[in-house]
Amino acid sequence: MKGKNLVVIKYGGSLMDAKSVEKKIIKNIKKFAKKNPVIVVPGGGKEITNALKKSKIETKFVHGLRYTDGKSIKIVEKVLENIQDKVVKKLKNALAIKKAVIGERVKKLGYVGKFTSAKFLEIGKVLKKSKIAVVSPVGKNKTGQILNFNADEVAGGIAAQVKAKRLIFFTDVPGVLDKNKKTIPIIKIGNIKKLIDRKIITGGMLPKIMSCVQAVKKGVGEVDILDTNMKGTKIL
Ligand SMILES: Nc1ncnc2c1ncn2[C@@H]1O[C@H](COP(=O)(O)OP(=O)(O)OP(=O)(O)O)[C@@H](O)[C@H]1O
Ligand SMILES: [Mg+2]
Repeated sequence: MKGKNLVVIKYGGSLMDAKSVEKKIIKNIKKFAKKNPVIVVPGGGKEITNALKKSKIETKFVHGLRYTDGKSIKIVEKVLENIQDKVVKKLKNALAIKKAVIGERVKKLGYVGKFTSAKFLEIGKVLKKSKIAVVSPVGKNKTGQILNFNADEVAGGIAAQVKAKRLIFFTDVPGVLDKNKKTIPIIKIGNIKKLIDRKIITGGMLPKIMSCVQAVKKGVGEVDILDTNMKGTKIL
């Protein structure tokens, strides 16, 4: 699969609470899909945390990545695939592909995968039938073990592998903010280490920015972290 026209969109789980915000992002995605094939990767941080809480499982993060034990993975799988189905319904002209992510297990994070590839053949087929393919960050390793993937990493990994035209991370903040909480409009990948070392970029922004670095290096045309008003940071 080649990504010359492809737009990859990470739909932040942070945007799934409020109906008005949800409407805006769905509208944004549909706009892109009018001109380009689109792959959407929905996250689900908050919903997973809430579902785990209900089962009395506490959430632990390691460098912005969720530790997922044997009990949690079943809950994570269910929550993320439910979200995937919901997003498909909202987008209308979209289809879901289940377990389309392939990776290796990162044992120190429990049942978490490191992205190695996606089922591009299947994704390509779906994109011939519909404008939008929705890929959830649930996948498998070679032995068939179900793994939880970070949605930022999956979106970045897919965009990088097909050299997508554009990669957009829609999230709950207008891009990367500086220490005064002001948007940094452009960040060159050479300056990212400094921002991490100074603890300006932390938590959920870490996997996002690392995915941006990878995508830029691999030649994705345009990489942005944006809020639903399309305001944010361009990564060069
Ligand atoms: N320098 C920074 N600028 C902006 N946000 C930052 C920064 N450093 C850390 N963050 C945090 O990153 C968060 C965005 O990542 P988060 O994982 O919470 O959302 P998401 O990726 O959109 O949702 P999900 O993980 O559910 O898909 C921001 O709300 C903010 O708290
Ligand atoms: Mg996140």
